[in-house]
Amino acid sequence: MLDNLLKQQNFSREDLISLLSVKGDDTQKVLDRALEVKAATVGRKVYLRGLIELSNVCAKDCYYCGIRKSNKHVNRYTLTDEEVYQAADFAWRKGFGSLVIQSGELTSPAFVSHIEQLLKGIHQRTNAELSITLSCGEQPYEVFKRWQEAGAHRYLLRIETTNKKLYYQIHPENALHAYEKRIKALEDLRKAGYQVGTGVMIGLPEQTIADLADDLLFFKSLDIDMVGMGPYIEHAETPLFEKFMLLWPASERFRMSLLMLATLRLLMPDINMASSTALETLDPLGRQSGLLAGANVVMPNLTPVINRINYQLYNNKPNLDKDPALSTSSLNQVIEAIGEKICYYEPGNSQHFLKRQG
Ligand code: 5AD
Repeated sequence: MLDNLLKQQNFSREDLISLLSVKGDDTQKVLDRALEVKAATVGRKVYLRGLIELSNVCAKDCYYCGIRKSNKHVNRYTLTDEEVYQAADFAWRKGFGSLVIQSGELTSPAFVSHIEQLLKGIHQRTNAELSITLSCGEQPYEVFKRWQEAGAHRYLLRIETTNKKLYYQIHPENALHAYEKRIKALEDLRKAGYQVGTGVMIGLPEQTIADLADDLLFFKSLDIDMVGMGPYIEHAETPLFEKFMLLWPASERFRMSLLMLATLRLLMPDINMASSTALETLDPLGRQSGLLAGANVVMPNLTPVINRINYQLYNNKPNLDKDPALSTSSLNQVIEAIGEKICYYEPGNSQHFLKRQG
């Protein structure tokens, strides 16, 4: 039964629920099939994106996130331009091919032009040889367009969960956090010409396997180019921490995250998928496990070490004290040891996107 399911190329909602419901040894069977499909489509190649956590100043108040506006224990920072350029230069010299600029969500004109200036500045300093992904939240179409014209190629905006009821259990129910606004932003990103990425958190309190299957179908219906998804990890200084008792055990959130990656690789074989930092938080080998479950992107953290303590989206975020030079020096070895190959000096565009472009 599972063997037949794994050979399929199209999957119904019921099929996806079956795949996500496997237990015991069958889990490994699904992961192995995903690795096979990955090898046959995008190849056993890994693309690097240097992650720059630009600022933890945030106008939003998401119930799960450690840097939410109402968390008064966070020291707010914004990297200097010089710090950003140094991180970009590091990525460029190391042949990473690509950067992600992530930030707390702001929509002020000053923030919009700051990002625009950084994009131009980075391209100028790196001979326009880095492809850049932004992860700076919901913005009006005009802002997405402006940033795209300033040199951003890709945009990550997680839907977090597609179950609207659950969405409002993890976000305040108001105009600033409206579900419809998130959907509209994802559509606008596509119109503005980006490679579009979204994703969800896995193992949220009260989330079901059927919800996760619906999340996968949402990615498919949006014809998404890239996905970043990983386990939900509680943060003690957030309102959602109250539901700690309802959580699946961390090991189960980890296993479900791998199953989600694997199942999505079967459903959308040619997209880019990141092996998330949150996976690494739950297991020191989590990054490798993600790659072996079908992911093909890794995002080494290039944020200056002194700021990392203040960019804690969840508890126990790893590599708080690791200098970028140190945390990336062993990367090649670790990834080759599992039979994958890092592609240096390549942008690592989503094949799914390139095919749609024709
Ligand atoms: N656990 C896991 N992921 C989280 N994120 C934010 N808070 C948490 C948490 N507590 C993720 C969200 C967001 C991304 C930047 O980080 O999915 O989109």
